[in-house]
Amino acid sequence: MKHLSPFLLFLLLLLPACQKTEKILPPLTASEITGTRLWRRITVEAPYEDYQEWPGFEGMQIGQSPHGRYHEIYVNSALRNALPIKNKIAPNGAILVKENYDADKSNVGYTVMAKVKGYNPDVGDWFWAAYEPSGKIKLEGKPEFCINCHAGKKPNDYVIVRSLDKPLAGEKR
Ligand code: HEC
Repeated sequence: MKHLSPFLLFLLLLLPACQKTEKILPPLTASEITGTRLWRRITVEAPYEDYQEWPGFEGMQIGQSPHGRYHEIYVNSALRNALPIKNKIAPNGAILVKENYDADKSNVGYTVMAKVKGYNPDVGDWFWAAYEPSGKIKLEGKPEFCINCHAGKKPNDYVIVRSLDKPLAGEKR
């Protein structure tokens, strides 16, 4: 028994290392943002798998969009920690990553929104990108295809799935 406690302590110390922790980096700027740059940010520098999921929409969800039959949405801490947002404007540096799946639940790619101050002020300063599962860029920048459909949610800063000012009732931080 005497030797058990240092061992337990060791295990306890290991625990935090197993939890996901998002690497916090300065937001990408309007002069550096590209589809390639954003992909590196969300897969290498600060992998989106370490983000939390949209509160209240954790796990795979059934989608209505052209993105895929199912989806799973991750939000980075710049956005997550700002919720609920009274004026419904996402902060600079906010990133939403949507994994898209077909009816067989195979990944068919990623759609991403990244808030970049000064990038496209007339329509919410979002950088939009769609990637194949390999990371190959399908669309990037200011595609009308993305913006026009999301524009229905302009009063919610173009974000469709959840009201930015919705209280986080009971949802873990
Ligand atoms: C025809 C409508 C339509 C188009 C076009 C569209 N989206 Fe969406 N998008 C949706 C809907 C609806 C949702 C909510 C989730 C769902 O039902 O799949 C969504 C959700 C998202 C989300 C999760 C955050 C949110 O707004 O809820 C991201 C990120 C996203 N879309 C990115 C894009 C990108 C990037 C493009 C362009 C390549 C794009 N979308 C084009 C309809 C659209």
